[in-house]
Amino acid sequence: MAIAEMQSFVPGGRSHGPSVQEILAKDRVPPPKTLTEQSQMDLGLEPVPVERYISRAWHDLEVERLWKRVWQVACREDDLREVGDTYVYDVADLSFILVRASDGIRAFWNACLHRGMRLRREEGWTPELRCSFHGWSWNYEGTLRRLPCKWDFPHLSSEDLTLPQVMVGTWNGWVFINPDPDAAPLEDFLGSMPRHFPWDATARSVTARVSKLLRCNWKAAMEAFMESYHVIATHPQILTMLADASTQYDVFPSEVEGQPGWNRFNTLTGVSSPHLRTFTDEQVRSALSAYYGVELPPVEVTGSARQSLADTLRSRIGDEEISDSELLDNILYQVFPNFQPWAGISPINYRFRPYRDNPDECVMDVYFLVDTGTPQPPARSRLLGFDDDWTLAPELGLLAMVFDQDVSNLEDQQRGFKTTRAPALQLAAYQESRIRHFHYELGRWLGETQDHKEETRL
Ligand code: FES
Ligand SMILES: [Fe+2]
Repeated sequence: MAIAEMQSFVPGGRSHGPSVQEILAKDRVPPPKTLTEQSQMDLGLEPVPVERYISRAWHDLEVERLWKRVWQVACREDDLREVGDTYVYDVADLSFILVRASDGIRAFWNACLHRGMRLRREEGWTPELRCSFHGWSWNYEGTLRRLPCKWDFPHLSSEDLTLPQVMVGTWNGWVFINPDPDAAPLEDFLGSMPRHFPWDATARSVTARVSKLLRCNWKAAMEAFMESYHVIATHPQILTMLADASTQYDVFPSEVEGQPGWNRFNTLTGVSSPHLRTFTDEQVRSALSAYYGVELPPVEVTGSARQSLADTLRSRIGDEEISDSELLDNILYQVFPNFQPWAGISPINYRFRPYRDNPDECVMDVYFLVDTGTPQPPARSRLLGFDDDWTLAPELGLLAMVFDQDVSNLEDQQRGFKTTRAPALQLAAYQESRIRHFHYELGRWLGETQDHKEETRL
């Protein structure tokens, strides 16, 4: 399909009211070029099989063909600042150690070469990578350091005794790993996404790092953050200042054969929902004033409630260059398979992982990255249990309440998956196009579709 066709593909049309592009065109400080672009792909309208969320076989397939062979975010470079700093990254029942070695960041399978013990349980500085069972230890580079009673292992070569490594790459301060030694470089995997994400987070500090256990499949949790269609039912309190149903959804195809595409959405702030047909711009200004705790200039002066908020926030942060959209809007990107950085000045980043070996449970990680001027050491990790509210993490501020609303649906959704008589989940043609795209890429990656089957090594 030609690019032009992809870009105009909007099955069923879009919501009434002005489009994102029509509103952005009126902003006093216009957005960066990427936010003026649009892209869609014709991926059909087929539903998504329920088994993808609940079946043991599908979960096992994901472990073998996705998690063992895909680039995935493990931590921040900031987590590994000094030689000897380590980080433990777990996904499903797989575990990896990342360590700052003398020659850069290395990553290893987190298992002892003696009798298989997990080598490290938590992050932190360590003088060596030491197994607590019998005391075998390794240097940061993965070479053997100490082996008590070495005379008793005459049958093992130095190759047998070197920790197996996994590939490491970095982008925007994030450390990615890929356990597949034959994987394409991270640059090929990310494709055009970095060109469309001009927000440099390398110097930002980690001011919050909160993980929460959830009773649902990792994809169900992630997909709850990939559309704004749920705002009317799940977050009705923000309809007065958020253009939910006008959201622009973009799906960008892969640029490199065998690698995934990526997607994003932009939901505008400072414009009311198209569902509130009689709401005036003056009412939007009042709602924004209350939410942001600041009296915004009248609409007659600035031209719109959105402009009143943008001008006020811009002068507050003292950056006259920054665009209205980067200041205000909810712009979420998705990097396959499970990483979602927000764009603009927003500090928010999400990651979703299966929890242990269970398709019914997952971990949602929230990282806040903030330009603090002088760099700060990363915030301590906080783990919230299945029954803990997000509001137990005060470092998340007002967002904790929104997250509680988001995750309140998920356990019931997972239970519904198991009782539904419908064999598949229906997706909106446009507003859920990112979810459809994710499943398309997942199917390709797992070798489910013919074109990928021919390439797959498994
Ligand atoms: S299992 Fe690690 S030293 Fe024995
Ligand atoms: Fe939400």
